Amino acid sequence: MGQEVIVSKGMSACSHGGIYSVNPKLVKLDCSSNINPFGTPRRAIAAIQKGAQLLAPVYPDPECKELKSSLSRYLHVNPEWLSVGNGAMEIIYWFARAFVKKRAVIPAPTFCEYELAAHKAGALVDFALMRDFKLDADSVIEKARDADAVFLCNPNNPTGMLDTKQIMKIIEGVESSTKVLLDECFIELVDYPGANTLIGMVKEFDNLVILRSLTKSFGLAGLRVGYSICNPALTKKLSIYKIPWNVNCLAQAAGIAALKDAGHVASARALVKRERGFLQDRIGKLESFSPCKSDANYFMIDLHGRNSTQFRDALLRKTGVLVRDCSTFTGMDSHHIRVAIKTRKENLLLLKALGMFDG
Ligand SMILES: Cc1ncc(COP(=O)(O)O)c(C=O)c1O
Repeated sequence: MGQEVIVSKGMSACSHGGIYSVNPKLVKLDCSSNINPFGTPRRAIAAIQKGAQLLAPVYPDPECKELKSSLSRYLHVNPEWLSVGNGAMEIIYWFARAFVKKRAVIPAPTFCEYELAAHKAGALVDFALMRDFKLDADSVIEKARDADAVFLCNPNNPTGMLDTKQIMKIIEGVESSTKVLLDECFIELVDYPGANTLIGMVKEFDNLVILRSLTKSFGLAGLRVGYSICNPALTKKLSIYKIPWNVNCLAQAAGIAALKDAGHVASARALVKRERGFLQDRIGKLESFSPCKSDANYFMIDLHGRNSTQFRDALLRKTGVLVRDCSTFTGMDSHHIRVAIKTRKENLLLLKALGMFDG
């Protein structure tokens, strides 16, 4: 059997959703970014307002000590095992620079920044194509032989699927010299985060880095707070690439306040579960759209052969609703979009917009 050739779309096409991916003035409802449907916790907004005058003229704590203490309590992890970045994005790039020298293995489709970061670090990327959007652990392990690193994402973006068992198998199956970055940035919004997070494995596997963020779970996208959990030796290697004061004062204050409100994430999780069922059921009844299975706060929709870029643009022009065109993900066709699960009122607007293009 011949080898499957996967054409990278990373360098030319990697783009993100969000209102700046199009003309922001056209966007009335952004279903392309997968943020906590309740947005930012009130107490985080209050911390920013309260801190503005006091904190703006002062340099931030370069070590984010108080934020790390809050994360330590939230995660039950020792602060020495934590690094805080300007969003999870910054840590993806630290990881690539620190550990990816010659070759990385990345499943496809997944978040495009792993590929870009590996390339920018001067490495080659081998893709392991998913089957029906599910990971094949054996093929990843096989490709990862002698590789510097493997990038994994659970639940995966853009598919929204959890693959916890296959990921455990990969972590256990790759050589200990191969570093693994496991991105759990969306895991707090799946139904059972505690049963799916692999934070517990960092103690046993000293080649494992878990990546998290306050962007999605606590709706702090604009402030940029991400973090990683791994043993102190890896933490030290990652920190070589950290610039001083990488996380600003207001982001640190908002992060500390947000982490006191775990209920904000729990309510979002309950809403996502209910609304995912509602939206998928209603979209499934439309003639021209089929929702794909998902465990996350977003899911893909099969457009039955319609071109996803043209569809996104037409939907936005006609209705003001922005969806994520999935054609820019390596390993994806050009017939899928991704939508975020939001509040009932917003979900009804999305349904109405899709209904205008049905049949
Ligand atoms: C899977 C995944 N990881 C990380 C990020 C970046 O997170 P942050 O906003 O914390 O940089 C994104 C952003 O969309 C993402 O989809």
